[in-house]
Amino acid sequence: EQINKGNYEHYMQKEIHEQPQSLKTTMRGRLIRGGSCKAKTVLLGGLKDHLKTIRRSRRILFIGCGTSYNAALAARPILEELSGIPVTMEIASDLLDRRGPIYREDTAVFVSQSGETADTLLALEYALENGALCVGITNTVGSAIARRTHCGVHINAGCEIGVASTKAYTSQIVVMAMLALAIGSDTISSQERREAIIDGLIELPNKIREVLKLDQKMKKLAQELMAEQSLLVFGRGYNYATALEGALKVKEVALMHSEGMLAGEMKHGPLALVDENLPIVVIATRDACFSKQQSVIQQLHARRGRLIVMCSEGDATVVCPGDNCRAIEVPLVEDCLQPVVNIVPLQLLAYHLTVLRGFNVDQPRNLAKSVTTQ
Ligand code: G6P
Repeated sequence: EQINKGNYEHYMQKEIHEQPQSLKTTMRGRLIRGGSCKAKTVLLGGLKDHLKTIRRSRRILFIGCGTSYNAALAARPILEELSGIPVTMEIASDLLDRRGPIYREDTAVFVSQSGETADTLLALEYALENGALCVGITNTVGSAIARRTHCGVHINAGCEIGVASTKAYTSQIVVMAMLALAIGSDTISSQERREAIIDGLIELPNKIREVLKLDQKMKKLAQELMAEQSLLVFGRGYNYATALEGALKVKEVALMHSEGMLAGEMKHGPLALVDENLPIVVIATRDACFSKQQSVIQQLHARRGRLIVMCSEGDATVVCPGDNCRAIEVPLVEDCLQPVVNIVPLQLLAYHLTVLRGFNVDQPRNLAKSVTTQ
């Protein structure tokens, strides 16, 4: 594998733009298109001997840090839906701080790009001691987490150099969607839904190619926002994770304060911050939460909020209540895959903000690619 920037100026830029390819590599050989009588299905070789045990577990825990945690959060709803098993989220350090209960009947899924993050690794040792089935989802063959878990899936996104994770994030979500498909594959009632998701996965690299065309638009938005102090990002449902991850990208590389917030919590505090100056991104692509997000937009507009709404193609005039609002239209995909599309404009925004503000894109101050100490 070649590790160079090619025609790009920075690794982060290259890694954002190579996502159509990295997603393809992640899915290669894992999606089985059905013949005349054979249903479409998912094949995850590293899990096949453990699927029965996972299906019998009382709970699935997702454990990770940073972007890997956000990727798991994005996949949580589809895993809950297709498995019917309660899925709980754990930030590795917090699980260790609490010594939270873990049981033999649990499946603990460890998500880590590097496979070496100290907190995630220690949480893995803790889960092993408590007898849980431990599954690793990493981008690094032979890493500590890949070695210590009972089974797992490699995300195969290719080497990621930029400290801010981009292509690993989207590949992690895709792997966890495939995990949900594999666990749910014995349920006849969800067959149609699963096939629609598989079709969506096959189309995903093309959709990412389309959304990458927003590059110049996001650069212009970055020019408008570059002198701001702060940026809020509101999301919910499948895209709560997109809000957290978009804000994380902006703060870690552009060194601008940014917070991802659950839109359902808006009235419980964040609304007090709203005025005509603070830029607010609202993610309002079409899914079951769309009408709720429309009402969030109305409420922010009523307080003269400065809105940037991410919506589905053709929805700009539907979502924007008037001036002081601009729309970013993205292609519509299967709801559980929408976070993979929606994060891309925010990655581009963070990238351009960083370049314009004159900061180091690939090596943000004080941060490391892999945090191997507690
Ligand atoms: C560091 C990196 C992040 C990454 C996090 C977890 O903070 O800067 O980009 O998301 O560690 O890393 P992991 O390798 O476990 O995914």
